[in-house]
Amino acid sequence: MSLSTNLRRTLSCSKALVRCVNTSSDPQHPKTTSFGFQTIPEDAKETMVKSVFDSVASKYDLMNDAMSMGVHRLWKDQFVGDLKPGRQRPMKCIDVAGGTGDIALRILDFAREKYADRETSVEVVDINEQMLKEGLRRFKKTMYHNTPQISFHEANAQSLPKDKFADDSYDLYTIAFGIRNVTSIPAVLEEAYRVLKPGATFACLEFNRVDNPLLGTLYDQYSFHIIPLLGTILTGDRASYQYLVESIRKFPSQPDFAQMIRNAGFVTGKDVDGGAWSNLWGGVACVHTGVKV
Ligand SMILES: C[S@@+](CC[C@H](N)C(=O)[O-])C[C@H]1O[C@@H](n2cnc3c(N)ncnc32)[C@H](O)[C@@H]1O
Repeated sequence: MSLSTNLRRTLSCSKALVRCVNTSSDPQHPKTTSFGFQTIPEDAKETMVKSVFDSVASKYDLMNDAMSMGVHRLWKDQFVGDLKPGRQRPMKCIDVAGGTGDIALRILDFAREKYADRETSVEVVDINEQMLKEGLRRFKKTMYHNTPQISFHEANAQSLPKDKFADDSYDLYTIAFGIRNVTSIPAVLEEAYRVLKPGATFACLEFNRVDNPLLGTLYDQYSFHIIPLLGTILTGDRASYQYLVESIRKFPSQPDFAQMIRNAGFVTGKDVDGGAWSNLWGGVACVHTGVKV
């Protein structure tokens, strides 16, 4: 049975489960969440998201290039370049939901190429073993392999094990295109706050809300028609790519997400583009930052 069939089965089981959950005697706390446009029981989301990334792992990098026509590379370059890792001193970084290591590789390359820094390190954390395996395979071809600069860890961003990821221990926390997939965004932000040193930076790159109506319409057409089609053609998996597109629409708006970051204790800039967040391509993607006080 294919993974996408698996995902469809999980989805239909979850619909049945939701009917039960929503008749719960506690309507204030129905314990449901979104999985794309589906409403599902909170405790089913992790397995379903895992199923998506198991399915896409081996083609993830290829699909990223195909879906974004290579633009995700520019966004990631800008994301990392603006953070200037290694500028003042070597940094201890954690890249959460790091997948195949796209951000980690950029951090290490940037520190080395700009500042001749070979001590900055990145711990890549992801809940999905398959994605981490792809990352490890990729790093084997780089100069960082088998050095203290890179390591891969399977863990949930919402509950990083304290013995491995201690309080106040990182100079930089990055999360790119990952946070919209988690069950509890506040739990991830709380963990980010816990593991960062005081004065250190939280930085999130994520798809977000497009402010221009014309661009928004074009973007919707592209997302809902072309991306699932590309998923079908290149990977034989429409369901996973349909989920990825839908999950973008369910993610909080720029000001709402900035407020969540502040709720976790971070200080952000003002609620404008160029303050708490910086839009890329009119908000198709967006970088939010916060500083731990
Ligand atoms: C769209 S990929 C992004 C990967 C990489 N950061 C990039 O930009 O290419 C999202 C990643 O989030 C991971 N993920 C989803 N939920 C997670 C969680 N609760 N904890 C850690 N990682 C999670 C998935 O396994 C997947 O690798």
